[in-house]
Amino acid sequence: MTSYRIALIPGDGIGPEIMAVAQQVLMAIAPRFGLQFAFETLLAGGAAIEATGEPLPAATLTACQQSDGVLLAAVGGEQWDTLPNALRPERALLGLRAGLGLFANLRPAAVLPQLIEASPLKAAVVSGVDLLVVRELTGGIYFGQPKGIFTGEGQRRGVNTMAYTETEIDRIAHVAFQAARQRRGQVCSVDKANVLEVSQLWRERVTAIAAEYSDVTLSHLYVDNAAMQLVRAPQQFDVILTGNLFGDILSDIAAVLTGSIGMLPSASVGAPGTPGLFEPVHGSAPDIAGQDLANPIAQVLSAAMLLHYGLGQAAAATAIEQAVTKVLDQGLRTGDIWAEGTTKVGCRAMGEAILAAL
Ligand code: IPM
Ligand code: MG
Repeated sequence: MTSYRIALIPGDGIGPEIMAVAQQVLMAIAPRFGLQFAFETLLAGGAAIEATGEPLPAATLTACQQSDGVLLAAVGGEQWDTLPNALRPERALLGLRAGLGLFANLRPAAVLPQLIEASPLKAAVVSGVDLLVVRELTGGIYFGQPKGIFTGEGQRRGVNTMAYTETEIDRIAHVAFQAARQRRGQVCSVDKANVLEVSQLWRERVTAIAAEYSDVTLSHLYVDNAAMQLVRAPQQFDVILTGNLFGDILSDIAAVLTGSIGMLPSASVGAPGTPGLFEPVHGSAPDIAGQDLANPIAQVLSAAMLLHYGLGQAAAATAIEQAVTKVLDQGLRTGDIWAEGTTKVGCRAMGEAILAAL
């Protein structure tokens, strides 16, 4: 029996509903693969602000650091949008990323044949799309110094700094090339090297690292062109390697290709042997919270990524992914992915169907 300590952060909005489903799925899968989970539920985001006055209590970060993996649902909501930056729910995410050293964010986007009609793009354009965005997550303009709003010469000036060291570029490049080896062997690095010095260094280092992966093909795109190619011809992409800000933007575009952001999991990982954080790409969807309308699939697939990339339990992860596919084949759909001829179900019913399919 292998035991793991799993930190659960349900967060805000639909978070608690979809987390309940994912936790049930983990409990159901455990005995079949000789696993045992000790769950600890932690506060972060708006829920933590209400309870403690801060978005990421020290106790939460410590418990996450001591866990074997963190499963997070979503944080945020309108009622906290007017708080100063340091107190906003989103700070919890940034604090967890920095505090756990989660420099690599993996965001897969695959168009499932069952859901192709849910995509806003033509079926011929998105059919067969299966890509992975590898986004640098603890550097770039999100964390660069100086940052702030400064007063001088009679007016205020907002400043952020996009900066990458060679070390930061090299380690995320390795993640992308290694991921490509497990896939179709192609990395497209996205930057703005025609304008930004930080991107010129990025391109130089990625090209140098590529020499260690002769079995992987490297190409480069400027970020504006990459955004266009993602909607024009997304089938060309296997692994997209990019920095923090460009990855934030491109991963949302990639997500919508698949029809619903409610389907997509993500993994954020750091150094080997340290806990990773696994969460849906979507947010807390406060407009549908508490109404049993949310799609729990991204959360369930995030639990699968936790098993696979966080705990090295690939077989258990595959079993969960297959259960999700089976439920979609049965024609069950939550509202966000519903189409004529399929059966609309709520969050709980979708969860029960996934459990039954396991
Ligand atoms: C994401 C989100 C976050 C980000 C926000 C909520 C801080 O958009 O995970 O993509 O910008 O990284
Ligand atoms: Mg984002």
